[in-house]
Amino acid sequence: MQPTPLPHPPADARPTALVTGAGAGIGRAFAHRLAADGYRVIAVARDPDRLRALTAHLGPGHHWLAADLTTEDGVRRTADLITGTPVHLLINNAGTAVAGPFTTTPPEQAQEMLRLNCLAVTVLSHAFLARARPGDALLNVSSTLGWAPKADLAVYSATKAFTTTLTEALWAAHHRSGVRVLALCPGMTATASQPHHDAPRRLVHTPEQVVAAAMRGLRDGDGPTVVPGAVNRLFALATRLLPRRRTLGLLSH
Ligand SMILES: NC(=O)c1ccc[n+]([C@@H]2O[C@H](COP(=O)([O-])OP(=O)(O)OC[C@H]3O[C@@H](n4cnc5c(N)ncnc54)[C@H](OP(=O)(O)O)[C@@H]3O)[C@@H](O)[C@H]2O)c1
Repeated sequence: MQPTPLPHPPADARPTALVTGAGAGIGRAFAHRLAADGYRVIAVARDPDRLRALTAHLGPGHHWLAADLTTEDGVRRTADLITGTPVHLLINNAGTAVAGPFTTTPPEQAQEMLRLNCLAVTVLSHAFLARARPGDALLNVSSTLGWAPKADLAVYSATKAFTTTLTEALWAAHHRSGVRVLALCPGMTATASQPHHDAPRRLVHTPEQVVAAAMRGLRDGDGPTVVPGAVNRLFALATRLLPRRRTLGLLSH
């Protein structure tokens, strides 16, 4: 059977996981891991060819939706899918990082990042949590940069501070109800868009390692944040203990 881009895929005995940004990188690794763990995956991103190939590879019963989550229409169609399906696990993973000096980077790029990294995450989290039941889980992919902004990634870092803070607040609101809420805060992860060629290899994780840490966190009821890797956890701790000026200096070189 061919996987289909149905707006409301038919019911299935398996729990359903919707992953945004599932066409590449960490999102793609989530899709593979969740399918292997027995989830029916709904993969969302812009490129339909990549999504079609991915869901065909995952096997029967998986679905995809081509949606640009920087647009109102793309977010609305994805939110409708979340409310109408139902979805048991939502992974808000899609995100972009535009690097460069703040003043010479076109403001349109900042707006795109804000729409994808903040607005879409907020609207989709709302659509999900409004109907979530005990046992369901929301995982928002943030970054260690949310605690330690980088000068040439000012807007990106700020969007991740937003995502972490939003998710922590949602965790506080929901964790007693049995609905799991988690902010996943990876450090450097080798993906096609962010290969991190210049970084020491021991500091760079694979998407599969990041996903494994997230799945452990979900299983063990960790939260509100999960930071993959001991060095990243040490870094995250340091950002809380050090004076703010020192933290800002950590990533300035
Ligand atoms: N890589 C790292 O070092 C790192 C570190 C910390 C946190 N993160 C976070 O982890 C998440 C995934 O990062 P990644 O490196 O795996 O990214 P990636 O390899 O660039 O993949 C991004 C995915 O998002 C989709 N996407 C991009 N723009 C979209 C849009 N407007 N609407 C819908 N889908 C869109 C892309 O597919 P299409 O192009 O087909 O839409 C792709 O499937 C992001 O939130 C990122 O901020 C990454």
